[in-house]
Amino acid sequence: MENIILTGDRPTGRLHLGHYVGSLRRRVELQNCGEFDKIFIMIADAQALTDNFDNPDKIRDNIIEVALDYLSVGLDPSKVNLFIQSAVPELTELTFYYMNLVTISRLERNPTVKAEMQLRNFETSIPAGFFTYPVSQTSDITAFKATVVPVGEDQLPMLEQAREIVRKFNATYGEVLVEPKALIPENSVCQRLPGTDGKAKMSKSLGNCIYLSDTPDEVKQKVMNMYTDPNHIKVTDPGNVEGNSVFTYLDAFAKDEDFARFCPDYKNLDEMKDHYKRGGLGDVKVKRFLLAVLEQELAPIREKRKQYEKDIPAVYEVLKKGTEAARVEAAKTLDEVRAAMRINYFDDAELIRSQQEKFNSTAD
Ligand code: TRP
Repeated sequence: MENIILTGDRPTGRLHLGHYVGSLRRRVELQNCGEFDKIFIMIADAQALTDNFDNPDKIRDNIIEVALDYLSVGLDPSKVNLFIQSAVPELTELTFYYMNLVTISRLERNPTVKAEMQLRNFETSIPAGFFTYPVSQTSDITAFKATVVPVGEDQLPMLEQAREIVRKFNATYGEVLVEPKALIPENSVCQRLPGTDGKAKMSKSLGNCIYLSDTPDEVKQKVMNMYTDPNHIKVTDPGNVEGNSVFTYLDAFAKDEDFARFCPDYKNLDEMKDHYKRGGLGDVKVKRFLLAVLEQELAPIREKRKQYEKDIPAVYEVLKKGTEAARVEAAKTLDEVRAAMRINYFDDAELIRSQQEKFNSTAD
């Protein structure tokens, strides 16, 4: 069996450090590791519309932002297929068939959907499109027969749902679809990077994100204003590293060699944390170190983005090519699905012949 990756993001804004440590960084490694036969990375505009249907220009404008973020972190269109979900109508058709394989009560139990419904105050009036987006996400994954889906841990319920639909489909119609596996970051800190304000999650609406496309000044300002330990007032006070965003970010980003380079007073993060906990290490010093570590990662990304920004038509062309290639793959799966579901009337000569025979034998 081939090793195939599919993953994607909703184009509701520029991508931030949470996306980066949760998934983007890994995708580039996977792209370069040579173990995968095909890699599909999708801009999930149709899914984004399920809770932004009344704001289509937001989605429209963010397609290019997300594409630029992809390219600037090092996703390489000669190795991965970057494509736009809505431009692969096969995905919509699959979704319609998969709807029969899921119950309303099962959808109601999806923890991600539940949480998102609360977040958006949808309790009383849930758009059916939003409610069923896990089914559509199953189409995204299975259309490409993806075996591996690199995502953040908040997406695990989606993968579970997808696996259930695959099993139900295969049991009902025959073995056509492939059960996907989720790939989440092994470093638990990377599974959900907190916001710069210490809140559980980076989120555009909370204004607590550091974007991949932020300028050096913006990053500096955000890091220097970051939430730390509110009880660590004087440098000599003992400090807490748990729930302290600066240290959480260091957990996600700092490597031992960064200390030799930017903060040689410590050999590694444990030593730095110990000093902070004992007292005597000020927030500013830790923040300066974090800034250096982040800038080391962000500067090349920013540089690359600038290059791609000079030729926007070329970026759309990358998406167009990727979308065409994705359609070819999705159409192959859809042919198999239609045959298994017994709805491939016109390309089944045997069906037409046997129907004729049936009518011939009843004619006399
Ligand atoms: N739901 C994902 C997100 O919000 C985006 C997405 C859509 C996706 N379809 C997918 C991710 C298929 C993985 C596989 O980020």
